[in-house]
Amino acid sequence: MYVERKPSNYLEDLRNEFKDSFSTFENSDEAFSVLIEFMNIENIYSAAVKKISTKLDILDDNFQQMHKHNPIHHLEKRVKELGSIISKLQRKGLPISVESANEHLQDIAGVRVICNYIEDIYAIEKLLLKQPDIELLKRKDYIEYPKSNGYRSLHIVVSIPVYLTEEVQYVAVEIQIRSIGMDMWASLEHKIRYKNEENTEHYRSILRQCATDITSVEHKMQDIHSEVFNNK
Ligand code: GTP
Ligand code: MG
Repeated sequence: MYVERKPSNYLEDLRNEFKDSFSTFENSDEAFSVLIEFMNIENIYSAAVKKISTKLDILDDNFQQMHKHNPIHHLEKRVKELGSIISKLQRKGLPISVESANEHLQDIAGVRVICNYIEDIYAIEKLLLKQPDIELLKRKDYIEYPKSNGYRSLHIVVSIPVYLTEEVQYVAVEIQIRSIGMDMWASLEHKIRYKNEENTEHYRSILRQCATDITSVEHKMQDIHSEVFNNK
């Protein structure tokens, strides 16, 4: 067993710690309270990410007990950084406030589920969505309908209740479910895009071909696995 301690977000302490940094603002009280509100939502979104990850862990363990197979290879989770939340709001021409972020951004809390086989992706989605405390807000199936660059993944946005001391908040979590091959492809494509390679068009067409090859290999692997272990 291990215990993970997070830094304290006790608001009175933060108020004292940041008092000087905010003295340059014309209206420092206002700037400070916006920051404090943003820091506060970090806790709520991180709670939502924990709840979803725990649900996925439990499903993976139980699936193994029932079917002798782990559908999940690994999980990645993150809460969008404050700076990225603010720049996304700015980019979309939206007000910089917690209400605005809660209302318009559905990817502040993000969980990525890397599955072993293509069928595992839909199995995990089905098992998660049948839980009564989870509501589906949005679904994009880039596996059935890949993007023109070759990107494949299943994206769902769900709402989950987080029980706080005085209220219940319904929090959106973006869940990207993909296979190991899809994840390998997306990681490289993302890296190349951000490196702004001169030869981008050249790599784009190679990547499109890789996406086709990976899809074909993954279907073959899926068929072998299903045939041998009959766990359809
Ligand atoms: P925004 O989040 O506002 O961009 O819109 P959206 O949530 O409707 O977009 P979408 O569901 O298409 O994509 C959300 C996330 O999926 C992105 O932030 C990436 O993590 C991932 N993604 C989508 N398209 C691509 C792609 O072409 N390549 C890679 N590597 N990742 C992608
Ligand atoms: Mg998004």
